[in-house]
Amino acid sequence: MVKKDLDLFEEIKNLKKEKNAVILAHYYQNTDIQDVADYLGDSLGLAIAAQKTEADVIVFAGVHFMAETAKILNPSKKVLLPDLKAGCSLADSCPPNEFKLFKEKHPNHLVISYINCSAEIKALTDIICTSSNAQKIVESLPKEQKIIFAPDKNLGKYINKQTGRNMILWDGSCMVHEIFSLKQIMKLKAANPTAKIIAHPECEEPVLAVADFIGSTTGLLNYTIKDSAMEFIVATETGIIHQMQLKSPQKTFIPAPPNNNCACNDCPHMKLNTLEKLYLCLKNETPELIMEESLRLKAEKPIKKMLQLSIELGIV
Ligand code: 13P
Ligand code: SF4
Repeated sequence: MVKKDLDLFEEIKNLKKEKNAVILAHYYQNTDIQDVADYLGDSLGLAIAAQKTEADVIVFAGVHFMAETAKILNPSKKVLLPDLKAGCSLADSCPPNEFKLFKEKHPNHLVISYINCSAEIKALTDIICTSSNAQKIVESLPKEQKIIFAPDKNLGKYINKQTGRNMILWDGSCMVHEIFSLKQIMKLKAANPTAKIIAHPECEEPVLAVADFIGSTTGLLNYTIKDSAMEFIVATETGIIHQMQLKSPQKTFIPAPPNNNCACNDCPHMKLNTLEKLYLCLKNETPELIMEESLRLKAEKPIKKMLQLSIELGIV
């Protein structure tokens, strides 16, 4: 527990300096965590920031697979995650043992995995991708190359459609992006006809089919800054709306409604991190992400391949 009158923003600022620490945060984090972050970004941006940082301590305000990626890229640094239980339904939908058998059933296939997977799945992968580079990475491969895409079937379907490929898809999905109701979105659109619908490619096909723009969280944010529309219906986790509103205060952002009255378009895993937990983890330097070196080395290869391809293909 922390003292009630403690100014957590000030305390975190001082601890960062004292420990030469950096806070990397994903857009789906609580707004106060976004406000104290040194770097805020999508999965690709965060992986690059983790690769480049010169800090001794990395506090990863995101979920477990993201902190794992930071650790894989920085074996000698201390990587902290405010709540070690911050997992991911998509990563959990791909158990390594089952995936290994799936891979064995499809020999001669290259494995491309979305970064939202465990280090064990990364170790079974040839190239990692994120939603901002998946299409270009797939397009860079020879047409006849057989591919397994894991773990997100929705992103996989979308990339198959965009590229005309026929990648074999692992049957995984994100609980947050599958909850949007097309019916409710169309109702909102009818009530706000000038609003643009923007969606993350983890959404299901019918939602993507009505979207004016599809992209990663950074892609969606940039679109709302550049596009002339004044209203946007946002089909992704609600955390990103904080940055959209800060960047375009004159515009209106409406969260796409879920298929019932729950707040399920808030990711329960991302939202496990709080400012208080972030302060405590920086102060006590725990919980720390520890990884076995043999696993780290295997998982590092496909991440490095992705980072290299992102440069070669002009994505970053
Ligand atoms: P991006 O930020 O890379 O678009 O990923 C979204 C996501 O689901 C992270 O968990
Ligand atoms: Fe995982 Fe979905 Fe949450 Fe992203 S939003 S961390 S994919 S459960």
